[in-house]
Amino acid sequence: MKWNADLYDQKHAFVFQYGEDVLELLNVKPGEHILDLGCGTGHLTKLIQDKGAIVKGTDLSPDMIQQAKEKYPDVDFAVEDAVDFFADDKYDAVFSNAALHWVKDQNGMMRSVYNVLKHGGRFVAEMGGKGNVAKLVEATQLVLHNHGYHVQADTKVWFFPSTGEYAKMLEEHGFRVTFAAHYDRKTPLQDGDQGVAKWVTMFGAQFLEGIAEDEKEQILKEITDKLEPYYNEGGQWYADYKRLRFVAVKE
Ligand code: BEZ
Repeated sequence: MKWNADLYDQKHAFVFQYGEDVLELLNVKPGEHILDLGCGTGHLTKLIQDKGAIVKGTDLSPDMIQQAKEKYPDVDFAVEDAVDFFADDKYDAVFSNAALHWVKDQNGMMRSVYNVLKHGGRFVAEMGGKGNVAKLVEATQLVLHNHGYHVQADTKVWFFPSTGEYAKMLEEHGFRVTFAAHYDRKTPLQDGDQGVAKWVTMFGAQFLEGIAEDEKEQILKEITDKLEPYYNEGGQWYADYKRLRFVAVKE
């Protein structure tokens, strides 16, 4: 997945704006060592540092990390894979916002998080939960199948688990889940009736791979038309996000 870090910052600011209240769940104490996993352009990493923590932000995307370093030169950032990482100095907490649903090897990620935490350390995260953007996925798949793009329609890159499914996985990796919630959070899209096309172009590139520009435009229009009755509320468009939030402690 290649990210356009500029576009991400301009058009999808909600990703880190909503993340600010996940920070309350993290409850940073000054002097704590915290890892921000999948930190994107680093806004929340900076906020964690401003709360007095010693923080490191990591992301698999070099473009995101470059942008983060330019914006916040006083914060520690590195390109790292969430599935396979290591730390000599253990962390008090690992935090993640809107990133874990991209991770293909969830077991590898949970193993790495567990290994870098101190005993009693916490894993605090928000990600897409079961049913996240379900209407958008359904509309996209329908339109792609109608156009004969069956492979693209069936490509799966996101993992949106239920509370039970994810809590079981966390427990199997040695965590105790002390809090979990799965809730609807309809999320505003920018740019009116262009919002769906921009969202799919930015986040759902897998659906459009190998499709010529003019047909892509037509497909995006058809997806938008299918979603309009559900997404358009008097000119403001909203996506059907469902979030999964949890706190899991390393016993
Ligand atoms: C999310 O935050 O739920 C999300 C973002 C991009 C793609 C899929 C899900």
